[in-house]
Amino acid sequence: MKELMQGLREASIKAISECGSIEELEALRVKYLGKKGELTGILRQMGKLSAEERPIMGQLANKLREDIENALEESKNSLGEKLMEAKLADETIDVTLPGVAHKSGHKHPMYNVLDQIKDIFIGMGFEIVDGPEVELSDYNFTKLNIDGGHPSREWTDTFYFTEDSKICLRTQTSPMQVHAMEKGVLPIRMIAPGRVYRKDEVDATHSPMFHQIEGMVIDKGVTMADLKATLNLVVEKIYGEGTVTRFRPHHFPFTEPSCEMDIQCHKCGGKGCPTCKGEGWIEVLGAGMVHPKVLAGCGIDPDEYSGWAFGMGLERLAMGEYKINDLRLIFENDIRFLEQF
Ligand code: DAH
Repeated sequence: MKELMQGLREASIKAISECGSIEELEALRVKYLGKKGELTGILRQMGKLSAEERPIMGQLANKLREDIENALEESKNSLGEKLMEAKLADETIDVTLPGVAHKSGHKHPMYNVLDQIKDIFIGMGFEIVDGPEVELSDYNFTKLNIDGGHPSREWTDTFYFTEDSKICLRTQTSPMQVHAMEKGVLPIRMIAPGRVYRKDEVDATHSPMFHQIEGMVIDKGVTMADLKATLNLVVEKIYGEGTVTRFRPHHFPFTEPSCEMDIQCHKCGGKGCPTCKGEGWIEVLGAGMVHPKVLAGCGIDPDEYSGWAFGMGLERLAMGEYKINDLRLIFENDIRFLEQF
């Protein structure tokens, strides 16, 4: 029996010291010390021993159980430490490694053009103002002298929110003129860039949403000469010094007189090319002297004050500047397109 215990001691201590995981260790504990384990197996044979031998063997067996338990405990502790070390080593962060670079985007090309325009006008003392895209028809039309019968007020042209056609998505940035004048602070020098909406089908030159930049000056003694001088200066800053312009008579309900401004094609110098579609001229904006009726409707005395205003399409400007031939490219957000700018 002594030999059996000696054998068990050697085998168990060796197995425990070589054990590689907590699970295996638990299996060894059951194997050696469990109810059906090897030590229990040996103790069952105690009955065969003499009365003198029994306490001696009992003592030896207790000592053996203790030693195996201690070995198990020790092994468990050192395995735990090793596991923790391995985990720590695994999770070590090398702060000296180069980081993962974030790919950051950049401004949309059309907004680069808008920034350029804003800078030009800010440099001339203009204020940048912002206003509602959901607008009262009164502001989008009526106060701009666009009366009930005007075709742009039709349901086929304008997005309305209510049956009575009193609220719409603004079809132009011109209502910002009314907002600026109704504030009652004179003189006014402002531009108002923003989105406008019309019931147009999407194609290479149309979109139900696009951007305009409105501009307006109201002061004492403002004339058409101020309009022409200022817009000529703006155009020279955008398209280069010496850019030739022409002002064609036109009609807008909210200005009188009204005009459209063209620039001589900056690509071909007026000879005719794909950029100007062979015309030699490119239409840039609509403008005019603010109609006395509009001034009066906004509480400004037209005998004391006068002013001029303009409106231009931002997409068209950006398309010209970056040689973009399809309006849809501006809105589709295709990275392959946007990355070129
Ligand atoms: N609102 C006009 C349009 O959408 C553009 C325009 C023309 C604005 C003349 C003006 C202006 O301020 O004076 O076609």
